[in-house]
Amino acid sequence: MSATLRLDLDAPDSIDLTLACLRAGGLAAIATETVYGLAADAADGAAVARIFEAKGRPRFNPLIAHVATLTQARTFARFDPVAVRLAERFWPGPLTMVLPKADDAPIHPIALGGLPTIALRAPQGAMAEVLARFHGALVAPSANRSGRVSPTTADHVLRTLDGRIDLVLDGGPAAHGLESTIVRVEADALVLLRPGTVTEAELRDATGLPLRRRAPGEAIDAPGQLLSHYAPHGRVRLDAEAPRPGEYWIGFGEGGRAPPAAASGAIDLSPGGDLREAAAALFAALSLFDAPNIDRIAVASIPETGLGEAINDRLRRAAADR
Ligand code: TXA
Ligand code: MG
Repeated sequence: MSATLRLDLDAPDSIDLTLACLRAGGLAAIATETVYGLAADAADGAAVARIFEAKGRPRFNPLIAHVATLTQARTFARFDPVAVRLAERFWPGPLTMVLPKADDAPIHPIALGGLPTIALRAPQGAMAEVLARFHGALVAPSANRSGRVSPTTADHVLRTLDGRIDLVLDGGPAAHGLESTIVRVEADALVLLRPGTVTEAELRDATGLPLRRRAPGEAIDAPGQLLSHYAPHGRVRLDAEAPRPGEYWIGFGEGGRAPPAAASGAIDLSPGGDLREAAAALFAALSLFDAPNIDRIAVASIPETGLGEAINDRLRRAAADR
């Protein structure tokens, strides 16, 4: 298998080469402000199928369609006034909306996993520069093998996908480092399908609507939300007060103190205890300790406020039984 071409976003022809790859039905991993996405032309069924193949996804989970603008998004879904307000407030940015699909949306059905709805977002970063010149939408899951840690740098992408995809467009480390917040927009409420960088308070603020969680037992309609996800090789222990001998330690807010002596290796998500910084560092930390010789990882407790909810959601999945 041949190696994946790596393009620096600042190199003169990088966007042209990426567009040529996508137009030819290729797979390109592209930097966004959340995590790197594995992109293909949404209208090209064979290209979309290659995404599932490259990721080794167990099922055809529906994918997020990435668009350049709200105007373009309206050709894919029916927007009510709340959805318009959310798009105007948060796009381009880390918010994905699940909306009723438009009848003639130019997207291949395999990308939607048979659902009558579509997940849409307008991203920032290198992906936005590509979309500005692409004729349609790009579907893009996170650019990692299924169930593994989401990539926040081009190197992380290549760790699990080198040779399985055509190129990676390197836009540097992802600014947020956590996937987008996913909401389903209903007549009188928002349903939070995946916590993320845009917080609950921001969503309530923008719409004045209550935010509801999926009720326990309610069908999982973000099918990618499997409990075990983002898993490194080793077992993950959460809410730890301190590492036990031999554990690798992911700390939080330790103020630059020396790492606990019992730890075999240690990293602090944010020495100053800043949740934004911790979110951006989370997947890089899990990826750093995702190695065959590391079988135990312990993580300090992270406050459940603001972005902490999204961080803890990812950590619980990384720690779940598999
Ligand atoms: O930040 C992000 O959202 C990144 C970047 C690349 O944009 N993408 C991402 O994609 O995280 P992925 O495929 O790893 O996660 C998409 C989630 C999955 O859990 C999927 O089940 C859900 O979105 N989803 C997609 N379409 C849906 C739909 N119509 N209804 C409900 N959930 C949907
Ligand atoms: Mg993913």
